[in-house]
Formats: sequence, C-alpha cells, structure tokens
Amino acid sequence: MKRNGFKAMLAGAAAALLATFGAGSAQAADRAPEFRRGVNVLGYDPYWKGGEARFKARHFAEIRRAGFDFVRVNLFAFGHLDSKDRLDPEWLKKVDWVVREARKAGLGVILDEHDFDACSNDVTMCRAKLRAVWSQLAPRYRSAPSSVAFELLNEPHAKLDADAWNALIPDILAIVRATNPVRTVIIGPTSWNAYRELPGLKLPEKDRNILVTFHYYDPFRFTHQGASWTDLKELRGVTWGSDADLAQLREDFGKVAQWARANRRPILLGEFGAYDKSGTPEAMRVAYTAAVAREAERQGFAFAYWQFDGDFIAWDMSRDAWVAPIRDALLPARR
Ligand code: BGC
Repeated sequence: MKRNGFKAMLAGAAAALLATFGAGSAQAADRAPEFRRGVNVLGYDPYWKGGEARFKARHFAEIRRAGFDFVRVNLFAFGHLDSKDRLDPEWLKKVDWVVREARKAGLGVILDEHDFDACSNDVTMCRAKLRAVWSQLAPRYRSAPSSVAFELLNEPHAKLDADAWNALIPDILAIVRATNPVRTVIIGPTSWNAYRELPGLKLPEKDRNILVTFHYYDPFRFTHQGASWTDLKELRGVTWGSDADLAQLREDFGKVAQWARANRRPILLGEFGAYDKSGTPEAMRVAYTAAVAREAERQGFAFAYWQFDGDFIAWDMSRDAWVAPIRDALLPARR
C-alpha cells in the first residue's frame, strides 16, 4: 500500500514536472542551448548609419556578466541594399563586428531582419528584398557556430497576413537552407508575431531546426500607454498586477505551450517589456517584466527582453549602467 502510494507520488511528481517543463524539456534536444535569456540590441543605434555608436564592444561583456546568454540584433538591412540589391560591404563589416564581439563575450547571436513595416506594406517588394538579404547573409555566416541563428523577419503584419506570410516562409527558408542546412532559424506568426496566430502558422514539417517566436506586449494598453508610435500616446495611468492580470498571462502562455507540444516546436519569446517613458511606476513595470520572464521560464521558452537601450531600457547609456531593477527582474537567480 505504502509502496503504491510512493509510486503514485513519484508518478504524480513526474507528471507535475512534465506539466511544468512540458514543451521545453521535450524539445530541449532540438533547441540550441545558447538561447535561454537574451536582450534585443543595436536596433536603433547610430552605429549602422555611420554615426557615433552608443553601443560599444564592452556592452557585450556587461550583458554576459549580468547573466544573459544571447543577444537579438535588430537589422534594418533593406536600407543597405544598392540598386542591384547588393548589401553594402561596409554595412556587412559592421554586422561581422557585432557577431565577432558578441561571440568573444560568450553570447549567442540572433540576426533578426527587422524591416517589418516595409515588408508588411508591399509583399512583392518584401519577397525580393528578403531574398536578396538572406542570399547574402546566409552564406556569409555559413561557418559560424550554432549559437548564431537567423530570424527571417520580425513581426509580419498587415499585407503579410497568414496566407501571404505562409507562402513566403518556404521561399526564404530555402535560400537559407541552401548554405545553412541545420542552423537554427527563427520564424513567428503574423499580426506582429501574435501568439493568437500560432495555429495558422505553416512551417515545413521536416525542418526541425526552427525556433518558433512570439512577441508579448499584452495588455497592450498597459505596455504601450504613452508610446508615440501607437494610438495610445495620450493614454496614461493604466495599471497591471491584479490576480486577473496574472491569470491572463498564465492562460496566454499556456496556450503557446500547448501549441508547442502539439507541434513539437521550441519557443522563443523574442520581445516583451513595458514602455518606460509613460510615467508608469517603475515598480509596476518591474513586476510585469518579472512575471512575464518567470512565466516564460516556467513554460520552457527562451526569452529576449525589448530592449537594451533607447526605450524600455535595461541599460541606461546616460549613466552607463544597468537599470538594476529591470536587470534583476529578468535575471533574479543570477545575482
Ligand atoms: C519595434 C520597435 C518598438 C517595439 C515595441 C519593435 O519590434 O521595432 O520600434 O519600439 O517593437 O513596440
């Protein structure tokens, strides 16, 4: 009787572990281990356009020392294509520097093609430019270690609806696979990588080196209140942190985990955070950030915070120091 009780307890514990780590542990072998906790970097840095770079090589070391293991580098490659769709050699050298320095610091690197607005307004142009970009970037990094991953396109939306995006994926993926047959490639659903669109995302079944991404800024009225690039720029005072808010977060991530299990795909939460220039109390943004990060970990998702500097900041360039409460919300166990 006792034995059975013990067995039942063990079985119960195993089931609980499975429920907790389900998608993550089942897929662990598929996922490059380098991608666990990351931060988005360099997207809007003058570095790319020949200005004085805010981001310096030593920031990679700071990121690693804090306990992150990868960076997601936001690349606006389209603006560096010439009339024959060749990437500017000087710009490519800048990308090389980023990959080299991040690697030197011991960080994994996601090269994220971030021309999402341009792409989403004109599918024909998007297809041509994405083909051009990936047919040059992919061979350039074909010998890079497995901790360098490619993200085909950030946040497809508008004209890149599910059908248009699903039609484009195999085309661009084939270009990458011609030179990088097993490299981790990151792909997310339409509607700005909305988790709600995961069921409509069509991926080549045989390709098991795809890390599926989603972005989470829910509730949007909380995370983007005061943000000038949204229609919430006048909005203030929206709070977050009730039991219902937490329950909603769990439910949303539970749906992603369920999809991941059913489709046997590992997951990257590639962007999340709450806008910092809206007057939202820092403690509330910190609580939100910590809750999202813990829930991602609980479900076995890799995550990348939006973003290192500029806005939503984890690092304050004016003090040249971490915004410690945000850093600690992301990496509490490491300190
Ligand atoms: C965009 C940023 C924006 C962020 C949060 C990113 O994907 O590139 O411009 O600040 O999402 O809205």
